[in-house]
Amino acid sequence: MLVLATVVVAIIVVVPKRVKAVRAFFVFGDSLVDSGNNNYLPTISKRIGSEPTLPYMSPKLNGQKLLVGANFASAGIGILNDTGIQFVGIIRMFQQFELFEQYQQRLSAVIGAKRAKKVVNEALVLMTLGGNDFVITPRSRQFTVPDFSRYLISQYRRILMRLYELGARRVLVTGTGPLGCVPSQLAMRSSNGECLAELQQATQIFNPLLDNMTKDLNSQLGAHTFVSVNAFLMNIDFITNPQKYGFVTSKMASCGQGPYNGLGPCNPLSDLCQNRYAYAFWDAFHPSQRALEFIVDEIFKGTSNLMSPINLSTIMVLDSNI
Ligand SMILES: *[C@@H]1O[C@H](CO)[C@@H](O)[C@H](O)[C@H]1NC(C)=O
Ligand SMILES: *[C@@H]1O[C@H](CO)[C@@H](O)[C@H](O)[C@H]1NC(C)=O
Ligand SMILES: *[C@@H]1O[C@H](CO)[C@@H](O)[C@H](O)[C@H]1NC(C)=O
Repeated sequence: MLVLATVVVAIIVVVPKRVKAVRAFFVFGDSLVDSGNNNYLPTISKRIGSEPTLPYMSPKLNGQKLLVGANFASAGIGILNDTGIQFVGIIRMFQQFELFEQYQQRLSAVIGAKRAKKVVNEALVLMTLGGNDFVITPRSRQFTVPDFSRYLISQYRRILMRLYELGARRVLVTGTGPLGCVPSQLAMRSSNGECLAELQQATQIFNPLLDNMTKDLNSQLGAHTFVSVNAFLMNIDFITNPQKYGFVTSKMASCGQGPYNGLGPCNPLSDLCQNRYAYAFWDAFHPSQRALEFIVDEIFKGTSNLMSPINLSTIMVLDSNI
């Protein structure tokens, strides 16, 4: 659930000199990348000429399929363990990592430990985390926003270091999107349809800290391991300027109930718009497929204010000879 961040969900096919090899792709974090919530995964995979990553729990994820990677993400989770405490059956970060270890054992059983390690080291990893900690955590109210953000970043740093220990070497880390502008917030807390200043400010405090933290980790590791994705900037333009992107509105969701279609999930009882391409938001929390296509373009080609230190097309070139 929640969180308007952004995401490449794609298995990157690297085409080296002689053989065509598939690069594994691993996905961790919250619902923006939980494949159950995202019908854009197949689109993106197709665009780059590969097959979609399966959820780790899928019974189809076996044998050679393991080489494609896996999606461990779970809706409703956060950096903190008690974020999403109201949901049943969510898979928190430390559990996603336990499953990743289990995955690596299974992969080793198929192709041997040495090759399995190489697959993991050479994979592309996507991590989307943090929005839920502001929106649905019981703890945020105990702190000021700057203190809470610093606390989150200190815990996030541990999570990213653990990911590194587990073998990840190329990780896209998305900051939070404009949390205060999602239809859910407009419906519940905005009196006039304006984005919620408080959440927007929180994002503006959290994202630069995250950016600094990943930079710091990279200099500690001596490599461009962590790549910071500026989800806020990637989203804010089509939110403030929807017409420029061909959207009719960025306030009203395509599917939902209540004001702005911002209450409750998209289900058979919801109001469904006539033309989903005209909407920047699909449901109360998530960008529409068309909005995600703009975002994915920026992840591939964005300049350093959007993708730091390098964008995905550069990553693909750099990593094509490993
Ligand atoms: C979450 O719980 C796990 C397992 O108990 C623990 O190792 C980890 O440090 C906790 N994370 C945070 C941020 O408290
Ligand atoms: C990020 O790091 C730079 C350089 O170390 C520092 O000047 C800046 O204040 C930091 N920003 C935040 C938000 O901590
Ligand atoms: C991003 O990708 C484009 C190519 O699409 C490249 O020209 C540009 O230099 C890259 N920018 C960064 C910051 O890597």
